[in-house]
Amino acid sequence: MKTVLGIDLGTSATKTVLFSEELEVLASASAEYPMAQPQNGWAEQNPEDWWKAAVETISAVLRESCVSPDSVTALGISGQMHGLVMLDENGEVLRPSIIWCDQRTGAECAEITELIGAERLVEITANPALTGFTASKILWVRKHQPEIYKRCRHILLPKDYLRYKLTGDFATEVSDASGMQLLDVPKRRWSEELLGKLAIDPALLANVYESPEVTGTISREAAALTGLSRKTLVVGGAGDNAAAAVGTGVVTDGRAFTTIGTSGVVFAHTDRLGIDPKGRVHTFCCAVPGAWHVMGVTQAAGLSLKWFREQFAPEYTYRQIDDVAASIPIGANRLLYLPYLMGERTPHLDAGCRGVFFGLSGIHTKADMLRAVLEGVVYSLRDCVEVLRGMGVSTSEMLATGGGGTSALWRQMLADVFGCPVRTVSSKEGPALGVAILAGVGAGLYPSVPEACRRFIRYNEPQNPVNAAAYEPFYQLYTSLYPALRAKFAELATL
Ligand code: XUL
Repeated sequence: MKTVLGIDLGTSATKTVLFSEELEVLASASAEYPMAQPQNGWAEQNPEDWWKAAVETISAVLRESCVSPDSVTALGISGQMHGLVMLDENGEVLRPSIIWCDQRTGAECAEITELIGAERLVEITANPALTGFTASKILWVRKHQPEIYKRCRHILLPKDYLRYKLTGDFATEVSDASGMQLLDVPKRRWSEELLGKLAIDPALLANVYESPEVTGTISREAAALTGLSRKTLVVGGAGDNAAAAVGTGVVTDGRAFTTIGTSGVVFAHTDRLGIDPKGRVHTFCCAVPGAWHVMGVTQAAGLSLKWFREQFAPEYTYRQIDDVAASIPIGANRLLYLPYLMGERTPHLDAGCRGVFFGLSGIHTKADMLRAVLEGVVYSLRDCVEVLRGMGVSTSEMLATGGGGTSALWRQMLADVFGCPVRTVSSKEGPALGVAILAGVGAGLYPSVPEACRRFIRYNEPQNPVNAAAYEPFYQLYTSLYPALRAKFAELATL
């Protein structure tokens, strides 16, 4: 028997899934960890927590499935993108990771744009300088914590830190490396020009592979800790969104999906490099060698609901929240929510904006607010869809994934607000399945990523739009609120 393993290092938890060669789930385990917000707009996590969660979940799936460790032919790792992990010469973590939704690096982004030139930066990295991306985080540490920067010998992304702990190798792959803003995205390799101008030593960075390529095998220490065999191959894997694309079969032109995880993403595959000149959506290398994707990002999608539930509705499970919100009419009795808890990327590229409930009245209940949160996240994702449509990217059918994608209510809102059918794939494993497929391709079990997806991914019946017209005036009003508040957000940030 041959098996493949997928590890997905998310923002709220790490999930590890063991699959048969036919990609049936044999065992699955997840372990949660906290996110610290030491200041308004900052977000950090401890890489040691990720490693602990990986060891715990890998051991658990091996134990539960009772397969022989030697059956695990290959594994892939998916992870939250953009996070900065800095290691010293002994491979020890130097400071907590500054993660994707951290917004502290406005000044460093301005510096990067100044040093490289706005146009040239987009030519090389396919994106403007963004606070979420890794390059500005590196510059922030160099400026504010020079003693840490001086001791730094290795810079890794979150999932590549797990790879280092599993194999001892310093390696990354093109999809996640695209989000560091140091990769030449058209050429799929580190940009010497950028590294030179930013004075970042290339020796700090990991070797770049394509996502299904084998980067190493399990070290003696990691085998002892996890129960894995030293023979198991480790492939490049992918950033969580590129991995989710593989897990939903979005690996050919014209295919698109929406994730509602901690962040929200609208993602479209493209065989040709396409760039939004305004930089409102990201262009990254995708996990299919030689192809790219464009994606819009809502910073706080599931995060908005998690925040609201933790602060105001801890008595409800997520399933109960669906029932409560479903009992409220479209438009939440004239209440709108802007999900800008961690600033916003698409379409505003504004690290300083913040969340808003608009239209609160004495009649409103917690149930109205919950419905408004669900709707506001979907309006923000519609903003992403509109930018992609403006670039000529087809979004005529949408796959839905992530924790939020399991909610029939949220999916119906997506269908209504996007005005297109929304489907799920029958497997719920998303990024973990995606990287297990990449692992299987790397190990030679499947001939290619698109062929493996064609063979194994099955789709459920779509949910079609039924209430598009009822949402439209609320969405139109939603789009007018940010421009009206933009200057006020900036003012608030100075108080
Ligand atoms: C993508 C992004 C998030 C993270 C966390 O650019 O920042 O989707 O990958 O999921």
